[in-house]
Amino acid sequence: MREIKCIGILTSGGDAPGMNAAIRAVTRTAIYNGWNVKGIMRGYKGLISNEIIPMHSESVSNIIQRGGTILKTARCSEFRSAEGRALARENMLKAGIDALVVIGGDGTITGARALSEEWGVPVVGIPGTIDNDLSGTDATIGYDTALNTIVDAVDKLRDTATSHERLFFVEVMGHTAGYLALNGAIATGAEAAIIPEADTEDDQLKTLIDNGFRKSKNSAIVLVAENPTTGGAMALAARVEREYPQYDARVTILGHLQRGGSPTAADRILASRLGAKAVEALKEGESNVMVGVRNGEIVYVPFAEALNHTKTVRHSNVELVKILSI
Ligand code: F6P
Repeated sequence: MREIKCIGILTSGGDAPGMNAAIRAVTRTAIYNGWNVKGIMRGYKGLISNEIIPMHSESVSNIIQRGGTILKTARCSEFRSAEGRALARENMLKAGIDALVVIGGDGTITGARALSEEWGVPVVGIPGTIDNDLSGTDATIGYDTALNTIVDAVDKLRDTATSHERLFFVEVMGHTAGYLALNGAIATGAEAAIIPEADTEDDQLKTLIDNGFRKSKNSAIVLVAENPTTGGAMALAARVEREYPQYDARVTILGHLQRGGSPTAADRILASRLGAKAVEALKEGESNVMVGVRNGEIVYVPFAEALNHTKTVRHSNVELVKILSI
């Protein structure tokens, strides 16, 4: 393996609050260790189209509090092909980049794994996604901020739900995971959470309508994880209109609001710790691993494990939402 003198850093996939804090931590830790740092714009797309800029300590000044990513991001289909990755490798060599730190979700880690396995390039991943759906880590950068954004929004919606005595379906993101919906429901005292990990639609919606709504309460908020297969919140509201026309249901889709905003302290701290550890991992000769956090400790998670989709929501929390909303 080549001695590392220069590392490249990129953010890829959906942006997440705290990515900038991670870029700052990686850049400054690498410089502290005597390495050069190059920023790759627009994720893997910029690696293929050769959009590479030098990074200095000042390049990451005043960004820890900013949402989004100063390096921009993209979803890149070319990088899914071996030809695309060969081009990326060629540009890395031209730019003198010996190793990579990539920040993103499962698509980003999948790309990193392919590049590392094909070309033997040292690559370390940092979990950055609001979905919290990477295995081997208790949290991903951006998840806490998105959860707090959901809490703010639902607290506001609660005023209208109560005043008008309405049933609100609030759709949140999560890709195929229900972390935001389930924990958002606990944090807002919602009446139910409909998530892809559990067969909650028949169960909770029916229970809510039959037993709870209008009997003990005059309003209800149901958090629904986005789900293109079932149609998400819109489909549930349509079902209520069909099956329970006596109720006044409304839908709010929070959408990309959840990806924006200044990161919470928890996300800034997580991003700073993971960013610094990603550089240490490369120094220790690690590759093909993601840095993660488990029980407060930073750990190395092999890419294969990070991508194995074995992490799942705490199922007892579905019951908790039910019990606490009687
Ligand atoms: O992975 C983050 C995420 O926000 C998912 O929750 C969502 O399904 C997806 O990205 C949306 O992607 P895009 O911004 O490309 O529409």
